[in-house]
Amino acid sequence: KRKRVVILGSINVDIILQLARLPKPGETMKLQGFETAGGGKGANQAIAAARSSADVHFIGRVGADQYGKQMLSLLQENDVNSEHVKIDADKPTGQAYILLQQSGENSILVNSGANAFIQKEDVENARQLIEGADVVVAQFEVPIPRIIEAFEIARQAGVSTILNPAPALKVPDELLELTDLITPNEVEAEMLTDIHVDSKTAQRRAAEKLKAKGAKNVLLTLGSEGAYYLTEADQEESVAAFKVEVADTTGAGDTFIGCLAAKLAPDFTNIAQAVRYATKASSLTVQKIGAIPSIPTEKEILAK
Ligand code: RIB
Ligand code: NA
Repeated sequence: KRKRVVILGSINVDIILQLARLPKPGETMKLQGFETAGGGKGANQAIAAARSSADVHFIGRVGADQYGKQMLSLLQENDVNSEHVKIDADKPTGQAYILLQQSGENSILVNSGANAFIQKEDVENARQLIEGADVVVAQFEVPIPRIIEAFEIARQAGVSTILNPAPALKVPDELLELTDLITPNEVEAEMLTDIHVDSKTAQRRAAEKLKAKGAKNVLLTLGSEGAYYLTEADQEESVAAFKVEVADTTGAGDTFIGCLAAKLAPDFTNIAQAVRYATKASSLTVQKIGAIPSIPTEKEILAK
């Protein structure tokens, strides 16, 4: 049986502006390239999980515009069930303007649009879907009260929850208490714990702090430094990243989370293998431009 993953998340069209460097105030600069690609943390994670063979269902919103149509077909083509993606008549589909510098560094400006207007009734309408899932995954590009509502349904039904606290925002304690696995990156971990996670001891202290606040398991994604996790049963490990040429890191973190959600056993006993698999997957994503176009399939990941 395929693992059923429910994603409550954002859907964006990414407008990628390729630049030599960031412009200075008052400066006019030519672009080196321009592309659009599917994105949004929720959609990226959903497609990553679907390309790794999970049975993926999405809860979210797009606008009643061309971008919304494009994104709905993209989800469907990738075998993500979008029955619970509502078309918002009043708001535009989310957009992300990605300033991608030649160095590979990126800066992202987001116009949330419909993602910010997911309603309580959208989550309520998906109650049965959530109750029948193996895992529910959410990120911070949708309203936090919606995540709490979805995680409450999940917790009551014994469904595990993964919180990807991205982009960095403070997390209410109520939400941490409903979280089985939290997956901050370095910046997010520091925002949540006030600990700069630049050593293994600091990583452990940050993870312990998040556990003390109610998250059952903690996984820190550390970019080129790999990942670190501390489980409920105090299993701890640092996993190294792969050294690869970086073209564009956009969507790499999302690939990691989506692949992890697809492969992690409900009791977390295979966390070591699942983290290794997700690490491989995200090292493939960084080698291509654009979020969704660069997310690898299970076959590509296993061949690495
Ligand atoms: O995490 C990457 C994503 O963040 C991009 O696809 C962009 O849409 C922004 O939301
Ligand atoms: Na990429």
